[in-house]
Amino acid sequence: MSLYILINNFLFLFIGTERPNVFNMVEMSAEDFYKHVLWAGGLAYTELTLNSTDVKEFLKKDNKFDLVINEQFFQEALYTLAYKYNAPLALVSTFGNCMRHNVVVRNPLQLATVTSEYLDVREPSSFWGRFRNLYFTAYEYFWWKFWYLKKQEELVKKYLPEIANDVPSFYTLQNNVSLFMSNSHFSFDPATALLPNIVEIGGVHLSKSNASLPADLQKLLDDAKDGVIYISFGSNVKSSEIPLEKKKDFIKVFKRLEKYTILWKWEDDHFEDKPPNLVTRKWFPQKEILVHPNIKLFISHGGLIGMQEAIFNGIPLVGVPVYADQYNNLLIAEQAGFCKILSYHDINENTLYNTVSEILNHNSYMEKAKEVSRRFKDRPMSALDTAMFWIEYVIRNKGAEYMKNPARNMNWFASNMIDVYATILLASIIVIVALVKIIKSLLSFLSLNKIKINTKKKIA
Ligand SMILES: *[C@@H]1O[C@H](CO)[C@@H](O)[C@H](O)[C@H]1NC(C)=O
Ligand SMILES: *[C@@H]1O[C@H](CO)[C@@H](O)[C@H](O)[C@H]1NC(C)=O
Repeated sequence: MSLYILINNFLFLFIGTERPNVFNMVEMSAEDFYKHVLWAGGLAYTELTLNSTDVKEFLKKDNKFDLVINEQFFQEALYTLAYKYNAPLALVSTFGNCMRHNVVVRNPLQLATVTSEYLDVREPSSFWGRFRNLYFTAYEYFWWKFWYLKKQEELVKKYLPEIANDVPSFYTLQNNVSLFMSNSHFSFDPATALLPNIVEIGGVHLSKSNASLPADLQKLLDDAKDGVIYISFGSNVKSSEIPLEKKKDFIKVFKRLEKYTILWKWEDDHFEDKPPNLVTRKWFPQKEILVHPNIKLFISHGGLIGMQEAIFNGIPLVGVPVYADQYNNLLIAEQAGFCKILSYHDINENTLYNTVSEILNHNSYMEKAKEVSRRFKDRPMSALDTAMFWIEYVIRNKGAEYMKNPARNMNWFASNMIDVYATILLASIIVIVALVKIIKSLLSFLSLNKIKINTKKKIA
């Protein structure tokens, strides 16, 4: 039996603000992004879900489940469903590895190589890059653990009062997670240590696709023998909100690239001064478009799902990061050699033309993209089959207790060996202090004797 309740509403309505022009979020610090978007939005969405009539009706019914699957993204209150149904909990993330995920299952943090997905540090492995990462991780961790989780617990008290008093703390609930599915893959994302109950299912939405292009787009792409450039800033960032002078720069560049067909996801009916090689639509079937062999370049904001579609199909990128994890995704692609990042503020006719031409005129970007595509697909089984296997595995093995990190039942100082290190440190200090004392008294004893000998000599 399947039942699908869609909680559908626009985020900004619920955090009580107007929808901002998302391009302005380029300026936002990671701290502000958390405060104003992630935490505010997470609480609003969780409340919207728990207060939904359909959800309330559903929770009243006497259902039984073998497993509860939750997204891990600022809606911890919903983990209580695993408790309610006495079923193991599996979490899925639309991101790759990050502090929150590692803390949840007590996987090592690896802060030197796992950078918070929302930080845009230019050199993550430099001293300052790692320093910023540690600072931000501490900031996020303490606010999340001591403030955000409490807010989520209040929502459970309000909407699920019948179980609110018995349910373990969210911290305990999430430490007890049976399976964590991460939308990453080491063929693209940095290789990290993962516990056996963390599985990488990067590109899971790409495993099965039997959709084909609508006839008009198919013809358009087939006819574009010199190549196609596809532009989309995703669903949250609206291309049509781009400031006029930047739009004009884009148009000038398109005119100079006249042999290419250009598809631009543009959310408005009007488009003044449209060059003949430009096709705009409010929506494009992106996944199917990027499969087409005539696509030469994807100009993207670097959202992870679109990036994975580009990686899967071996398409080089020009990335204009706007907010959230976009900069980091693009940075990895740039370091891998199939992407060029162009800062939003740096966009003008010349920079845009040069960056696009750099990629179109040098084969290395396309070759690298194809190479990464090959290794992204080179797995024992598809991402979707991997996810299905482990979900069924956890159900078969009743939550697979033995896959969970035993460290989760220890104190934080014990699991981090702090007590042992502290004892060794203390013992070393005692030994050193004792040695220093002994040497000092030996020395003063010796010099005392010397003085005595000297004085004796003088008298003599
Ligand atoms: C919960 O839903 C009801 C309607 O079903 C609405 O009147 C109420 O304002 C909602 N509460 C919150 C806090 O959103
Ligand atoms: C932890 O999960 C297991 C199933 O994997 C369950 O049997 C157990 O009750 C859970 N413990 C807590 C404290 O929730």
